[in-house]
Amino acid sequence: MVYRMAFNWSNLSLDLIISFLYNAFAMHISEGLSFDDVLIRPRRSSIRSRRDVLLTTKLSRNLELNMPIVSANMDAVTESRLAIAMARLGGIGIIHRFLTIEEEADEVIKVKRAENVVIEDPYTLHLDATIGDARAFLKTKGITGLPVIDDEGRVTGIVTNRDLQFETDDHRLVREVMTPRERLITAPPGILLPEAKNLLHKHRIEKLLLVDGDGKLRGLITTRDLLGRERFPLASKDARGRLRVGAAVGVKEDTLERADALVKAGVDVIVIDVAHGHADHTIETVKQLKGHFQNVDVIAGNVATAEGAKDLIEAGADAVKVGVGPGGMCTTRVVTGAGVPQLTAIMDCAKVGQEYGVPIIADGGIRGGAYLAKALAAGASTGMVGTVFAGTDESPGLTIMKDGRKYKISRGMASLTAAMGRAASEKRDPMDPAFSDYVAEGIETMVPYRGALSETVGEFLGGLRSGMSYVGARTIQELWNRAEFVRMTGAGMNESKPHGRE
Ligand code: XMP
Repeated sequence: MVYRMAFNWSNLSLDLIISFLYNAFAMHISEGLSFDDVLIRPRRSSIRSRRDVLLTTKLSRNLELNMPIVSANMDAVTESRLAIAMARLGGIGIIHRFLTIEEEADEVIKVKRAENVVIEDPYTLHLDATIGDARAFLKTKGITGLPVIDDEGRVTGIVTNRDLQFETDDHRLVREVMTPRERLITAPPGILLPEAKNLLHKHRIEKLLLVDGDGKLRGLITTRDLLGRERFPLASKDARGRLRVGAAVGVKEDTLERADALVKAGVDVIVIDVAHGHADHTIETVKQLKGHFQNVDVIAGNVATAEGAKDLIEAGADAVKVGVGPGGMCTTRVVTGAGVPQLTAIMDCAKVGQEYGVPIIADGGIRGGAYLAKALAAGASTGMVGTVFAGTDESPGLTIMKDGRKYKISRGMASLTAAMGRAASEKRDPMDPAFSDYVAEGIETMVPYRGALSETVGEFLGGLRSGMSYVGARTIQELWNRAEFVRMTGAGMNESKPHGRE
């Protein structure tokens, strides 16, 4: 990649010469560029259609994705619902860590169970359960039906939301309303998928229980999962056909315990989430996690310099998350004075990443396809998106109306309300005087409601594909090799925006 900057010698003044000498001999001040400082220089292209552009990429050393977007581990962005939607679209979501260990592991389990070819260990209900028990269980697990079993694990029936919808007495027993064994359509455990599909279709049922010769439950195939396979051909899936998901940990005393619970829940990748990741304790945590969990990739961050990326990679990181202060909800740079403009941060870290064969995740400030295209052109393998996704249907939190418009709430993870929320969930007093000197590095705000995640992702990918076609890049690798940036002035930035209405 070539970065070109035109230098105008006629601008050389005494001041500049003095500052040049000062920088050279006293303190070197390097220049940092952000996304809006540059454009991608168009090149001759043989690409006829955006469909000719392939977006597969690497999230980390051992994980591939079918599209280069990762949803941010923020509590207004990624819990299981959004992570499921991300994985179906070919990307991945990272569950945030501001939950108890059990809650975070549960969010991972929800994703892993959301779409299975065969669910090998389905949730079940005991024969003596009440309708109230069934309702609560279905709701917490986010599912629509449960096999009912006896003490020996033999199938006695199935109860679904449909059986419960008009029941008013929560104390009645489930066995009184379920579809009993004699009317159940079941299949043997080894049934092939096309046969299972035929049975589901023929009997117009949504769940096929796999039952062995002793009448015991051995698995479950659902219509939703079978259709999901067809509707989302690019979905990110593990070897068992389950959707992929990542989850964040911090660098606290409970990190190993948390990571252990996440790994047991089936997490595909662990993300060490620290604002300043170029720190001894982060490096130590990378080593610890890599030592304990050989089969799970570990992403570490955040850093904004080549040295930061190198130290995390040498500690064992399988990908490095880059970004100090570019996020939509961040105030780190204005509060602390620290950070590196994001384009330069990505370029510096990507050089190191490419040397070691370790992917870079550009985290923060990606507001649309053009920003994603620039982040990838600068050498990143994926872009992490927070604020924009907070406005989608699938993010946690309610949609609110203000002045006739719909919004959702987003907040930085270092904002005061996020810190107070964490204190409350840890049963600490949110009015604790300790908060009076909490230095927030994030804000909370309303973000415009954007509808389904798939539409926003579609917009981002449309912009990216077009951006790649302007460079003649059919793959992200080719984009790295072919992209050149041209730096623009403020006037260039103005010219780039629509101005035909003036
Ligand atoms: P966007 O721009 O997509 O960026 O919202 C998401 C990333 O922003 C970071 N983040 C924060 N940074 N203070 C910060 O300095 C905060 O309170 C904060 N909350 C999120 C984080 O890296 C995220 O992935």
